[in-house]
Amino acid sequence: MTFPATRLRRLRRTQGLRRMVRETSVRPEDLIMGYFAVAGKGIKRPIQSLPGQFHFSVDRLAREAKEVYKLGIPAVLLFGVTQKKDAEASEAWNPDGIIQRAIQAIKAKTPEMVVIPDLCACEYTDSGHCGLLTADGRDVDNDPTLELLARIAVSYARAGADIIAPSDMMDGRVGAIRSALDDEGFNQVAIMSYAAKYASAFYGPFREAAGSGQFQGTRQSYQMDPANAREALREVELDIEEGADIVMVKPALPCLDIIRLVREAFPLPVAAYNVSGEYAMIRHAEKAGAIAGPPVIRETLTAIKRAGADLIITYFAREAIEQGYLD
Ligand code: PBG
Repeated sequence: MTFPATRLRRLRRTQGLRRMVRETSVRPEDLIMGYFAVAGKGIKRPIQSLPGQFHFSVDRLAREAKEVYKLGIPAVLLFGVTQKKDAEASEAWNPDGIIQRAIQAIKAKTPEMVVIPDLCACEYTDSGHCGLLTADGRDVDNDPTLELLARIAVSYARAGADIIAPSDMMDGRVGAIRSALDDEGFNQVAIMSYAAKYASAFYGPFREAAGSGQFQGTRQSYQMDPANAREALREVELDIEEGADIVMVKPALPCLDIIRLVREAFPLPVAAYNVSGEYAMIRHAEKAGAIAGPPVIRETLTAIKRAGADLIITYFAREAIEQGYLD
């Protein structure tokens, strides 16, 4: 026998063979597209910090959502952008608020679309923080914030949300939201918790897009330290105990190891958030001629799935399906 007897290259020889033995594939139904809704009518305005992404008024967003649903993407994650900010984040639970109207408009046009409002106070507080501040204004006050989050969640459920996605990282919020939803008759509305959400520097472009960039200080007192992995398992475990239906790891690319750990430790669906900084880096590198976008996007999404994510929240969702990057 001549060496080598085993030749792994045999199955890499043609596209057909490679397709047959491919272990990981990204399907349209694995993707959740993120959108930013703004007030007004007929608006589709480029977002500076996220080249290729847009601020949509509710009417245009409903059209956009129908188009992505037709492409096979089953779900959208929604963020509201508003100038109406105060200490109580009251615009977030206004029955006529931007997210409530966006949910209704999308559902009216595309009832099958899974609509997932991101639940957080940071787009609605004048501090730009994710909850109510303590009396000295130096930190987010956990327990009073739970009541606020629960109130916003019920308001989104009333507007027709299928899944609520709390991204605030307060302790006990999943339980508080679950019992408020159940008390108000929304026991069929699911919770996708941002369970292991890190205090990451990769959210920069989002904060400009969401208009939450003016906040002072950091989110390090509530979001996780990127140095920690065991703590992520504790966060996820608590959210599951409190009633989460889907658990999320965020950001995705700097946390592929965390996605894998969570996948192996828990049987729930795991989502990963390919965040704004991950998106913008690829876009800018592409524009600079450093990399080719489509194969990098394909490799990125495949890597997140291979790490163990069932679902990927990504601003690339529409483009990846429409342009056929994943075939
Ligand atoms: C709100 C929220 C943020 C993101 C999702 N929900 C920003 C933050 O926590 O500062 C980031 C998403 C992205 O970067 O694409 N708390």
